[in-house]
Amino acid sequence: MAKQMECLIEEGDHREWLTKGRTKQKKMRLQTALLWGAFFSYNLRSANAGLFTAVFESLKDFFGRAATPVEQCREPWIKTELPNLRADLEAKVYGQHLVIDSVVKTVRVHLRRSPQKALALSFQGWTGTGKNLVASIIAQNLYDRGMRSEYVHVLTAYKHFKQHEEEWVVYYKDQIQQWVEGNVSSCPRQLFIFDEVEDMPDGLLDALKPFLDHYESVQGTDYRSSIFLFLGNLGGKVLYKAAHNHHQSGGKRNDLEVKDMEKMLRTKAYNSKGGLKVSRLINSNLISHYIPFLPLEKRHVQQCANDELMKRDVEFKKRDGLIEKVISQLTFTPEDVELYSTSGCKRVSEMFDLIMEEGYYEPREKGNYDKSEL
Ligand SMILES: Nc1ncnc2c1ncn2[C@@H]1O[C@H](COP(=O)(O)OP(=O)(O)OP(=O)(O)O)[C@@H](O)[C@H]1O
Ligand SMILES: [Mg+2]
Repeated sequence: MAKQMECLIEEGDHREWLTKGRTKQKKMRLQTALLWGAFFSYNLRSANAGLFTAVFESLKDFFGRAATPVEQCREPWIKTELPNLRADLEAKVYGQHLVIDSVVKTVRVHLRRSPQKALALSFQGWTGTGKNLVASIIAQNLYDRGMRSEYVHVLTAYKHFKQHEEEWVVYYKDQIQQWVEGNVSSCPRQLFIFDEVEDMPDGLLDALKPFLDHYESVQGTDYRSSIFLFLGNLGGKVLYKAAHNHHQSGGKRNDLEVKDMEKMLRTKAYNSKGGLKVSRLINSNLISHYIPFLPLEKRHVQQCANDELMKRDVEFKKRDGLIEKVISQLTFTPEDVELYSTSGCKRVSEMFDLIMEEGYYEPREKGNYDKSEL
């Protein structure tokens, strides 16, 4: 498995991968040592109960904290029910009612029924609207170790698929297939996140076709329990137009429906450059759903800024107007009404850092404030 992946990644990432491998080896050595320690202590027990307790406690203390059980392809490492998914999304993701409804429904149905095919969701929308955030919330609900799980994989255009020449694309396609196959054959419930889809070589993701189709198995492996997420900015503009037209005609944002958007997103993904261009995944209807991430309004960005303030857990001598100051550094469109943030919530944290650096807002001692005041 590591071998297959090495080919996909550049030298720097390669080292990172090897380090991960070594860390895993160290963990296993610690676990073995823990077992020997326990065995040794058990024998001592019959000889001297007091000594046993002392030795066992010190061994437990030494190894217990360091040793973590190896993640396995079953409960409790992998969840079969996701009771908190909706609540988590509603608490953490602002302004994306279409996303929340679609994700909760599609992921739950996929887990509950015996799926006919792997779940493939295309997350589309402007920058900073929450695509990676939602992907990570799905991972946290599906796997005990969330994004750190061995069953969660993120592949990005700039890191893994830099070259666009034809011979590279042929090579990448072959590598993707071997890599998906290697992972799914070791555990069927995998989460694959393909990020920056529009910057991948044209049609690259066609390599996934055999795994997303309605086959019971492909060369002995069943891919139907896996989930594939495709993230990208495609369709951001059409979503902006749809949301804004709706707003101008007096409609409420929450009345927008997915069915009004899906077709536009599908067309956009098919016709734009990138991993889904003229894609067989699209024209064979293998993408299960197109999930629209609407542009975030100023009020949503204010919510993000408020969260950022809470996260920093400090009181500011002069915090009045801090959120407004952050918001004033961001760009909103259209110019006359300044309704939608062109960078969503993405630059909020950065803006806080800059403003703090100016020294106007001095942090006081941690914990010495009442959060309800914020
Ligand atoms: N709808 C949202 N609600 C709450 N926080 C959000 C939302 N959208 C984005 N954020 C916050 O903004 C930052 C960037 O979000 P994220 O990485 O999910 O954006 P993205 O849609 O993947 O953007 P890009 O297209 O540039 O990759 C994160 O800190 C995230 O928590
Ligand atoms: Mg992203």
